[in-house]
Amino acid sequence: MNQHSKQGTALITGASAGIGATYAQRLAARGHDLILVARDAARMQQLAERLKARHGVQVEVLPADLTQRGDLLAVEQRLRTDAAITLLVNNAGMAVQGQLIDADIDRYEAMIQLNVISVTRLAAAAAAAFGGRGSGTIVNIASVLALAPELFNGTYSGTKAYVLNLSQSMQQELAPRGVRVQVVLPGATRTEIWDRSGGSVDALPAEMLMEVEDLVDAALSGLDQGEVVTIPSLPDRADWQAMEAARHALGPNLSRNRPAERYLSHAG
Ligand SMILES: NC(=O)c1ccc[n+]([C@@H]2O[C@H](COP(=O)([O-])OP(=O)(O)OC[C@H]3O[C@@H](n4cnc5c(N)ncnc54)[C@H](OP(=O)(O)O)[C@@H]3O)[C@@H](O)[C@H]2O)c1
Repeated sequence: MNQHSKQGTALITGASAGIGATYAQRLAARGHDLILVARDAARMQQLAERLKARHGVQVEVLPADLTQRGDLLAVEQRLRTDAAITLLVNNAGMAVQGQLIDADIDRYEAMIQLNVISVTRLAAAAAAAFGGRGSGTIVNIASVLALAPELFNGTYSGTKAYVLNLSQSMQQELAPRGVRVQVVLPGATRTEIWDRSGGSVDALPAEMLMEVEDLVDAALSGLDQGEVVTIPSLPDRADWQAMEAARHALGPNLSRNRPAERYLSHAG
């Protein structure tokens, strides 16, 4: 007998810790069955047992290193073929401290692999599956650093600007097919990502740091309100809308048949 939940199954990447593990708790409480994806199988198994006992949902652990092509393709395949999946939380990500000039470039490459390549491939798999069925939701986790390249290294913030860009484009492509896209831009949030990247969360002013439960609850509230872009910290949504309006105002002048006047004045 099929005992899948009416809410459908949520596949969450980076579900062993931090934001992903908190999505797992909140979505289980909302009645979703879950597929948890990350590398640490034992940790996800413990979380799965807790959530099954507390919420009576089905929870499967799907261990994968999303920087490894074989593992990534297996998760993609699951997204493409499992019709019970109605929600992808495309969350797994990493940060690397340091500037380009003295970067550990192999770690930067792994970060791009995880934050960009795996996010794109999983988004594409979910888009194809959900688009074919005319329903489903894709939540991509970016960062406020997508809007602030001066605050951290440009490679990490660039991966997150990519996720914002991808999500806004996906929304345009997929909305007519009945698929919802939300991109979440967390500010600094208390998770392991700080220690893992060699930084320290305690170095931040307390007023800049959000607890992970507050972050995920705000992100889900934004999803419930139908937002495409959710910035949990931002007090006034009009500030984001003003930035988008300024960007759109550039539109008619971004591609023309002759250079702007200021570039012609020195011509010989
Ligand atoms: N915390 C913040 O301040 C903050 C702010 C803005 C955006 N974000 C974004 O939020 C997302 C979640 O971050 P977090 O703060 O929750 O970080 P976290 O606590 O370090 O959790 C990261 C998760 O991703 C998984 N992961 C890491 N490398 C992986 C790999 N190669 N393959 C599969 N899974 C992998 C980790 O599990 P395993 O180690 O078990 O694989 C873990 O479950 C990231 O995309 C991050 O960029 C975080």
